[in-house]
This record gives sequence, structure tokens and C-alpha cells, in this order.
Amino acid sequence: MKRHSFVTALCLSSVLLSCFAPTAFAAIGRYKRWPVGGSTRFYEFKVNTMKVTKLCHTRDIVTVNGLYPGPVVYAQEDDRVIVKVINEAQTNVTIHWHGIRQRLSCWSDGPSYITQCPIQPGQSFTYEFTMYQQKGTFFWHAHVSWLRGTVYGAIVVYPKTGVPYPFPYPYEEHTLIFGEYWDMDVVKLEKAVLASGGGPPPADAFIINGHPGPIYNCSTNDFYQINVVPGKTYLLRLINAALNMEQFFSISNHKMTIVEADAEYTKPQLVDHIMLGPGQTYNVLVKADQPIAKYEMALGPYMSAQNATFQNISSIGYFHYSGAAINSLTQQALLPQFNNNQIVSSNLNGLRSLNVTNLPLEIDTNLFFTIGLNIQNCNRQNPNKTCQGPNGGIFAASMNNVSFVKPTISLLQAYYNMINGLYTSDFPGVPLKIYDFVNGAPNNIPNNTNSLIGTKVHVLEYGSKVQLILQDTGTVSTENHPIHLHGFSFHLVGSGSGNYNPATAQLNLVDPPYINTIGVPVGGWAAIRFIADNPGVWFMHCHLEVHMSWGLAMAFIVKNGVGPFETLPHPPADLPRC
Ligand code: C2O
Repeated sequence: MKRHSFVTALCLSSVLLSCFAPTAFAAIGRYKRWPVGGSTRFYEFKVNTMKVTKLCHTRDIVTVNGLYPGPVVYAQEDDRVIVKVINEAQTNVTIHWHGIRQRLSCWSDGPSYITQCPIQPGQSFTYEFTMYQQKGTFFWHAHVSWLRGTVYGAIVVYPKTGVPYPFPYPYEEHTLIFGEYWDMDVVKLEKAVLASGGGPPPADAFIINGHPGPIYNCSTNDFYQINVVPGKTYLLRLINAALNMEQFFSISNHKMTIVEADAEYTKPQLVDHIMLGPGQTYNVLVKADQPIAKYEMALGPYMSAQNATFQNISSIGYFHYSGAAINSLTQQALLPQFNNNQIVSSNLNGLRSLNVTNLPLEIDTNLFFTIGLNIQNCNRQNPNKTCQGPNGGIFAASMNNVSFVKPTISLLQAYYNMINGLYTSDFPGVPLKIYDFVNGAPNNIPNNTNSLIGTKVHVLEYGSKVQLILQDTGTVSTENHPIHLHGFSFHLVGSGSGNYNPATAQLNLVDPPYINTIGVPVGGWAAIRFIADNPGVWFMHCHLEVHMSWGLAMAFIVKNGVGPFETLPHPPADLPRC
């Protein structure tokens, strides 16, 4: 214990120094070695409750180490990271390391009932993984119920010592983690939404680093501010940790240059606004090259679905030039209209990898998954209270019209220990019915918008070269869905509007972005490619939390390959029990 906290302090205070350097491997080939780290960094996460006062109310929220947002995990590329999570709260918890590819460490991935059972109150679990060939901006978040509404924090991974950024070194960097604040317990909120059969209420506020900003009630002084020196360039690490909303961000009078998306470098892209779906991270450079003043940073809604209710008040922070008078007039930030799909698609189309590695040009596994919402027939008692979805039905969501149901012990344990009866391996590789997905709603059969329900996985042979088309449907309403894949980054080789048509789709096999979350365009499609070379069970789901609760999810099982470097190790001894 003592030793742990000493090491943590040492590592925290020396972000760019290696704490230990037991480099015990030589790189022989691509994956022909264990993904052990150059250095090891220890963290201790105490999950506990703390009082916060926001929007005129004080209440208890679950956080980590009494911080909100939670502590930043710092590391360098190839470091080994060990985080002991101690659950001192009254609720189940797991932590997911979003964007970390978890090479040969699926047991530490964190989604509840997928790779582990939850850490129960009073229990602990130690996550252990390597930032293997990864650097940039990531985040960690709870992966149980809607707990990530308050349990989240940034992960910042620097390049190896002596390796520069592929852009001029910024004067300073700041992390902006975007969220949604709910004036109620988020775990109860999920239960209430599911029990109602209807949609979720809007968040009570959008927040930047936990601060709603002055437009919200009782929040005049509850804002986030970056103090800048005129003429200097700043690196902003933007993270969307919101539960249910995609968000636009902008800084008044300042352009942003995107240099990294989902912790992989991109060719520089100059933008006025940026849209982040939950689960997306971007690094942008901002030059303080405007007249000395106080500029707003604004965070507001992007909502591409029809007839949805959402929070429409922007969260405001400040980009404050030194020398600007405290009371000087503020330059207002302009956000796009909430449904401005053009800006979203032009940003996406402009996203290009800086360097491309491991892009499979030949494909041996072709998959096609539809994504969207469903309305199930009301089969509940007390329909007035429990079937509040459209037309007196119950909201659901699905991939290939299958709504995912979590099993009672984790899929990874069921798979590894060959326990029967917890899942089936028949998740379809293509939709069971082909129709006009975008315009042909209601879905399969006229007026039948029901989905199938089940715990189905799709099995991939080790090393499969996969192309997956993600196709939005108009079953209930077309909508941009941020689809996140665990265990991999993927190459976004194409996207477009309407139904995917292989004859006309233009694919970029030159410099596609390498990301882990793709905002599939509203009423459109995205084509992604990856090599299934990481054995384990990997969740793929919409990162809008309510869609995941409704079943917009599935899991891949990636089989072992040959030999120890292609085989999932045995589970850690302290893996929580259900
Ligand atoms: Cu950040 Cu399964 O999610």
C-alpha cells in the first residue's frame, strides 16, 4: 500500500520521466512479443461519493478519489499501467479505458458483463494493461449502468522521451472534458427510463470540466477558464464524456486545427466548430492571435434525430487573454444550429490519417450491420406508465435488428470457461432482411418496428481482415450514432449518406483516419476496416448511453491464434465474481 502511493506520487510528479525502466524485450516483429511496458505506472482509484453543488442544488455523486472530473492518468507510449480500483461506493462499478486497445489484456477492458462482473461495494480489482504503440488523448469511464455520467476522467499518453509531436510544440496544453450533468442519481435515472419505455429526459446541464458556465441558474461563477498569453499556441485535448448527447464546441473568433482524432495523428484540418459524439476525443491547436479580450468557449447540442427533446442551453467557458480586463466585454461564441449535419459531414470528410499503418487492402470478412432504434409492442402492465415510447410502444435499439441483452456473468468468462447457455454465436453478419434501410421505415414489415432480443456474438478467426459497413436506419428516426469498438482502432475507409451501395461507394485506401468511435452519418453509412488480431471478447456499441441500454450493441469473439503472442492469457486472480 505504502509503496503504491509513493510510486504514484513519483509518477504523477514526473509526467515526462520514466518511473521505472525494466525494459525487458526486444521488438522482433509486429506482435512477436508480449506487450510489456517500458515503464510501469501505478494508480489507486478509490471510487467514492462526494457532495457537489451545481445548478442551485447539493447532492452526492459517485466519483474517483474525491475529484470531479476524476484524476488524469498520465503515461508514455508503451508504458505498463496498473490501476487498483477500490469500490468504496454503494453501487457496482467497473472502469473502461476507452480507446486503449488492450493487446492481450481483454480481462482489463472493463465493460460490465462483457469482460468482467462488476466490482461490488467493498471489493477491489486491479486493471493492468500496456499503452502498446499508443499515445494521445483517451479517457476512462465507468461501464456499469449510467454511472459514467459522473465517473470519468482523462488519460494523457505522451510520446516516448525524445519523440516530438508532428507539429510545433505548443506553449501549453489543457484538457477539456465535456459532460452532461444530471440533477439526479444516474443509476436510478437509467432504471426509470427503462421502466417508462419512453425516451430519457434531457440533461440538466452541459458541463466543461464539471462546470456548466454562467447561462445556467446559480452558475455565474461556476465556469472553466483558460488563461492565455497573446501570440502563443495551445494544445487542447477535447474529450466528450457526455451520456446521451453529441455536442458542438467552438471558441469565438478562433479557428482550431485538428491534429489528432481518437488518439491517432491526423493531417491538420482547420475548423471553426467541432462535433464530438460521446466517446470521441480530438486534439486541436488554437493560436491566441486575436485582439486581447475575453473570448467564449461554447459547448452545445448536436441532435440529428427528429422529435427528440434535448438540453439547448450552451455551456460557456472562457479563453481569456492576459491583459484583458476582468469585466471587459466578452466575445460571444457562435455554435452551429443543433441539426447542422453539413458541418458534421464536412469535418468527417476532412479527417485524414497523418501516417497509415496496417490498413488491410484485401478483405476476407465482409460484414454489414444496420443500426437504429425500434419500437417494441407494449406487453407490459400499466401501459400508461410503462409504454411511453411512440405509438404506445417501448423504445428499443438494435444492430441487424437484434437488441443486445447483457448476460448474467461476463461473456469473456463464459467463453473462456466454456460455460454454455449464456450467449449464442449467431449474431448475423448481414441483416436478415434487406430493404430500403434509410427511407423504408417502418422497418422489416410495414408497421412492425420490433427487434429480436438476445445475447448474440459474432465470432472472428484470429487475423481476419474485416470490412464492416455500418448502416443507419430510419426505423424510428435516422440519427447520427457514435459507434465505438473495444479492443481495436479501425480505419474509416468511407462514409456517405443514404443506403450503402458497393457499386458507387468511394473508399479511401490512401489515408483513412484510424479511430475507435465513428459518428455514422445521419441516414447514411460508414465503412470501417480492422485486422482481428487481438484475442478476446470485444464489445461494440452506440456510445449514446440510452441507445446502449436499449440494446444498440453486440460483441465480437476474436479467437486465439497460434502461440503465446496470439493467445489470451488466463484471467487475473482478483477478477470480480458475479
Ligand atoms: Cu467508452 Cu464501451 O465504451
